[in-house]
Amino acid sequence: MNAPILSVRDLGKRFGAMTAARDITLSVPAQQTVGVIGSNGAGKTTFINMITGHLRPTNGTIHFEQRDITGLPSRRITGMGISRSFQVAQIFPSLTVFENMCAAAAVCRAPKNLLGHLYTPLRSKESVAEAETLLELFEIARYRDTLAANLPQGIRKLLDIGMAVAGSPRLLLLDEPTSGISIEEKFGLMQVVMSALRNRKITVLFVEHDMEIVERFAERVLAFYDGTVIADGTPSETLGDERIQTLISGPRLKGAAGAARHV
Ligand SMILES: Nc1ncnc2c1ncn2[C@@H]1O[C@H](COP(=O)(O)OP(=O)(O)OP(=O)(O)O)[C@@H](O)[C@H]1O
Ligand SMILES: [Mg+2]
Repeated sequence: MNAPILSVRDLGKRFGAMTAARDITLSVPAQQTVGVIGSNGAGKTTFINMITGHLRPTNGTIHFEQRDITGLPSRRITGMGISRSFQVAQIFPSLTVFENMCAAAAVCRAPKNLLGHLYTPLRSKESVAEAETLLELFEIARYRDTLAANLPQGIRKLLDIGMAVAGSPRLLLLDEPTSGISIEEKFGLMQVVMSALRNRKITVLFVEHDMEIVERFAERVLAFYDGTVIADGTPSETLGDERIQTLISGPRLKGAAGAARHV
């Protein structure tokens, strides 16, 4: 088997007396699509934040492509090939869709120092070409000249994730890509995102509260509970386990579909 793209060992995070994540050990092979589930406060975002360098782990190690990235600053980690989206879209509302995408492409190409960021042109030939490609790939080219502030929520999400893909990451972490999106729109949005990521051969971990989306799009599902991974298997193994369902969503809800709701 190929070496994993991501490996974490005994990973944990405490905030004072509060343990947000603990004893997380797992590996992810390249190009796998991994769904991350768990109730509110289970430690999903903390896990992502440690991988991306937004939080320094209290203990444990993280290896990306066999390099130890534990505790490195997020800018370094991004430069090495890990990108992410946040629970709330990180876009520039007063710029158009095209300008947002150009800015993301330009920043990724800038030399990794302050002067590089200050003097990198937002519209170099390369960044414009990359922006055009990503607008097509994420199927938002028709919104090219729309101000980001005026975008429908689903398109805003596509722009946000497209911007995270500028710079060609090998690993992408999506924190609730469908939050705030209507049930009717969620599947279409995920189809576009997943096919774009497959096209770019990107490994993806996505946090999701809608079990139907997880069942449909994940090859593997990690279930978080009380800061740790309590199940790690195929969607049917993880979602079909009644004990897991009860721990994650409470005994009230039946069936995998719609089991966990974001409250
Ligand atoms: N900066 C922080 N300081 C103190 N406690 C924190 C901090 N960040 C997270 N926590 C706590 O750590 C636990 C895990 O939080 P985390 O945000 O990782 O959960 P989550 O699984 O992403 O939940 P949600 O589904 O609501 O997004 C929670 O109890 C949270 O209150
Ligand atoms: Mg979270």
